[in-house]
Amino acid sequence: MASPSGTGTYVAIDRDACAERLARALADLSTGPFTDPAAPITRYAFTDPYLRTLDYLSERLSGCGFDPRLDPIGNLVARNCAPGIAAIGLGSHCDSVRGGGRYDGILGVLAGIEVARVAREHGFDLPFQIVSWVEEEASGFGQMLLGSRVASGALDPRALRDSVRSLDDGRSFYDHARSAGLDPERLGEQPTALDDLAVWIEPHIEQARVLEDAGEQIGVVEAIAGYVHADLEIRGQADHAGATPMGLRHDAGIVAAQTTIALEQLALETGRGAVATVGELALEPGVINAIPGRARMSLDVRAPDADAIEEIVSAITGLATSFAERRGLTATATERQRVAPTPLDEHVVAALCDAAAASESRWRRMVSGAAHDTMCVARHVPSAMVFIPCRRGISHSPAEYASPVDAACAVEIVLNAALALGAR
Ligand code: GLV
Ligand code: MN
Ligand code: MN
Repeated sequence: MASPSGTGTYVAIDRDACAERLARALADLSTGPFTDPAAPITRYAFTDPYLRTLDYLSERLSGCGFDPRLDPIGNLVARNCAPGIAAIGLGSHCDSVRGGGRYDGILGVLAGIEVARVAREHGFDLPFQIVSWVEEEASGFGQMLLGSRVASGALDPRALRDSVRSLDDGRSFYDHARSAGLDPERLGEQPTALDDLAVWIEPHIEQARVLEDAGEQIGVVEAIAGYVHADLEIRGQADHAGATPMGLRHDAGIVAAQTTIALEQLALETGRGAVATVGELALEPGVINAIPGRARMSLDVRAPDADAIEEIVSAITGLATSFAERRGLTATATERQRVAPTPLDEHVVAALCDAAAASESRWRRMVSGAAHDTMCVARHVPSAMVFIPCRRGISHSPAEYASPVDAACAVEIVLNAALALGAR
């Protein structure tokens, strides 16, 4: 494999042209039919905007000499080389949260395609495998990192078949996959999206404001915070909001509120980079004139340190139970999923750091607070990530913005790291 990095040469690409291509693709994918044009970006498996986006990406990949296919559960996998060759893996995801932004995930897939395109333009014959992981965001089926967890063995295919259901209609993931023309029963018979990868690099927006505040253009990610996702069900007694005296209530909404405040307090007290969020909260019957008899809330607890996560999860479960019992209610927590804090591969990190230093841009090593498919890939393949700054750190929001010029800088750095790693 050709390797100018092996001879100490840094390859500069035409960043303006690359930025322009990225900006055009992002603009294309930010409107119909790739998302609902009347709403902020909403694209999740296996909706029509999602499937159209896969087609868009596949067409671009074919134009760059790739052979795109969907694996049995809908991960988009494209190679520019024969099976069996250890390729450089690049990519991210193309689903969004509901009401999300234009960059989270999709920019990493487009940037991966750009790396392959500019490599070819510069005459480098590098073997690449580009992946867009299915259901990273949990917006379709409530399960983050679904495609990469299945591919990496973190989620058993039987659990995928039996217990993963659509948030919209309750139909199973398998049913939806079949409606999208996939063959999920064949999972296990075919190579996974992780086979034949020598290394994996995921470009992504930072989703925090460390880089912007420091005036830096690139982050090289050396570790990713872990998380626990759980559901808490509080059961009380639905009753009349007007006729029931305050002392005779079993209000599930109050316990949900106490638990939410306690979770914030726990994360603040724990420190060590811990964060915790109640993102979903549903009260039943959910009408103005009834005391809630049932509350269901989600718990999202994250930290770079596994002990910090455990401390918070165990404390909040105990507190929710005692808040509930004091009022004659019950609280039951059920874990939805967990992914451990993930250190990334020092060799791949170093290749990215060397390339970032040679690029003459301002950069740093950093930890990701957000979760990424790379956490699962890293269980099997030496992996790292590059971060592109995003304005005011805002993400999972229509206000999300990242500069295509910064993304083009990331493309150049990843290309140089890929060349250096290929020379090993
Ligand atoms: C992924 O989007 C996450 O919530 O970290
Ligand atoms: Mn993402
Ligand atoms: Mn996201």
